[in-house]
Amino acid sequence: VNTGLSVAVVGATGAVGQEFLRLFEQRNFPVRCLKLLASERSVGKICKFRGEEVCVEEATPGSFGGVDVAFFSAGASRSKLLAAPAMSAGALVIDNSSAFRTDPNIPLVVPEINADAIGPKDRLITVPNCSAIILLMAVHPLRRLGTIDRLIVSTYQSASGGGAGMMRLLEDETKALTLGGEMPQSPLNVRYAYNLFSHNTPINEFGYNEEEAKVIFESRKILSMPTLRVNVTCVRVPVLRAHTESVTVEFAGPAPSVEEVREVLSNAPGVRVVDDRENNRFPTPLDASGQDDVLVGRIRQDLSNANALCMLVSGDQLLKGAALNAVQIAETVLARNS
Ligand SMILES: NC(=O)c1ccc[n+]([C@@H]2O[C@H](COP(=O)([O-])OP(=O)(O)OC[C@H]3O[C@@H](n4cnc5c(N)ncnc54)[C@H](OP(=O)(O)O)[C@@H]3O)[C@@H](O)[C@H]2O)c1
Repeated sequence: VNTGLSVAVVGATGAVGQEFLRLFEQRNFPVRCLKLLASERSVGKICKFRGEEVCVEEATPGSFGGVDVAFFSAGASRSKLLAAPAMSAGALVIDNSSAFRTDPNIPLVVPEINADAIGPKDRLITVPNCSAIILLMAVHPLRRLGTIDRLIVSTYQSASGGGAGMMRLLEDETKALTLGGEMPQSPLNVRYAYNLFSHNTPINEFGYNEEEAKVIFESRKILSMPTLRVNVTCVRVPVLRAHTESVTVEFAGPAPSVEEVREVLSNAPGVRVVDDRENNRFPTPLDASGQDDVLVGRIRQDLSNANALCMLVSGDQLLKGAALNAVQIAETVLARNS
């Protein structure tokens, strides 16, 4: 009997793509047959899945015959080109890129927050920006404690957010600086190793980079709070994996107590409180790496504003910020249809 799904991963050789393979195994995602797609450069590469070798094929409009679910993580231009043919072939498309996130008719979903945004007929669902997901996993549960009026966020974003190539760049620069040898070619206009820099995306007319603009727009869309005030600064730090964010949450009235916030976050799915003041142990990207949960700690009153409180959040943006969130969306749709 043919049970299970025919699944395609577009961008299978990438940093996010590789996480899908691990997650399918780990979560027992019902894969009957797996198609791994990437650029022509990767044709013939082999990936292991459930102990078997799967050959990577080139992603083309004709790649999707018989595919039930297609996970896209190969950049916005690939999604714009290939999502429509995948849908025409009958696939449910879950897109990690920014190609469709701003379309009001296309749901932008973090299942713990707005699974109800997925309509029964939706065949294309988008995964939000990784910094937005990690931020909102910590912020959304607090809406039970009061009306949120404004978010002030600074990010400490890792190399993996820029894909496998940026992780390699950070490692290679660090090696060259510590062991000697030539510095690698870099697409950045600053050195990465032993440095940090404003997010390497284009700056808009207001002086905000693209990552910051995404966090503002997407937070409003996911929370259905079109007028939410969001102030954000996105910075890349020389950490290999997992994003960290300093977050101040301003409420419309007096902020809830630290105890109330800890309690609500302790019960929030997908969140783990790491808030050990005695030992000065709080979320770190190393602790968050490879973890499904987003870590939240340093929960404290903003002493400069009685309506606000502060937190430090760390989350693995290849997992909850990308592949895990995508698989959870697929699981949500499958559970509804079963
Ligand atoms: N990294 C993150 O934390 C993160 C988080 C959320 C969303 N995303 C999104 O996920 C996507 C991939 O990110 P990543 O970090 O995994 O990048 P990556 O490590 O650079 O991987 C890119 C993937 O896209 C494939 N690709 C590139 N050009 C292609 C083409 N012309 N045709 C078919 N496949 C092509 C690559 O295949 P080859 O190996 O053959 O070049 C590779 O599999 C991007 O849209 C990104 O915005 C990333």
